[in-house]
Amino acid sequence: MDNSELVAAAKAAREAAYTPYSGYAVGAAVQDERNRIHRGCNVENASFGATICAERNAVASMVAHGGRSIAAVAVVTADGGVPCGMCLQVLAEFAPATEQVEVICVAMDGSSRTFKLSDLLPHAFRSDAVARTPGGVQGSDLT
Ligand code: THU
Repeated sequence: MDNSELVAAAKAAREAAYTPYSGYAVGAAVQDERNRIHRGCNVENASFGATICAERNAVASMVAHGGRSIAAVAVVTADGGVPCGMCLQVLAEFAPATEQVEVICVAMDGSSRTFKLSDLLPHAFRSDAVARTPGGVQGSDLT
C-alpha cells in the first residue's frame, strides 16, 4: 500500500486531538495485517498522567477491531516528532519484527522522516523474555 492513505488518516485523526493542557496535537494511524487502517489521537486529562498518546490509542483501536500485527505506522505532529518510549514499546508488542515496521513521522509543513521501529527502539522488550522467566507467562498462553 502507498503510505499516503496512512498519512492522511493520521492527519485526520490529529484534527480530533483533545489537548487543552499542552496544545500539542498528535494523530496516528496503524496499518494492520489485513491492510486496514486504525487511527488515534492524543486525549489529555486534568490529571496529566491519565493522558493517552495518539499511537497507543491507534493500537488499542486496532486490537479492538481484531488486528494483531502492525505493518506500518504514521504519526503527524506540528514538528514531525517521533513517538515516545512508551508508545514505541506498545508498537513493538504488535510488530511481527521491529525491523519490518516503518514509522513515518510527518510534520504539518509536509516534511517527513521514515524510520524502522528497530531504529527508534533497538532493544525492545519482547514477550519471549517474559516466557523465559520461571513462573512467567508461557508461549502457549500467548495465543
Ligand atoms: N504525545 C503523543 O500523543 N504521542 C507521543 O508519542 C508523545 C506525546 C502527546 C501526549 C500529550 O498529550 C502531548 O503529546 C504532549 O506530551
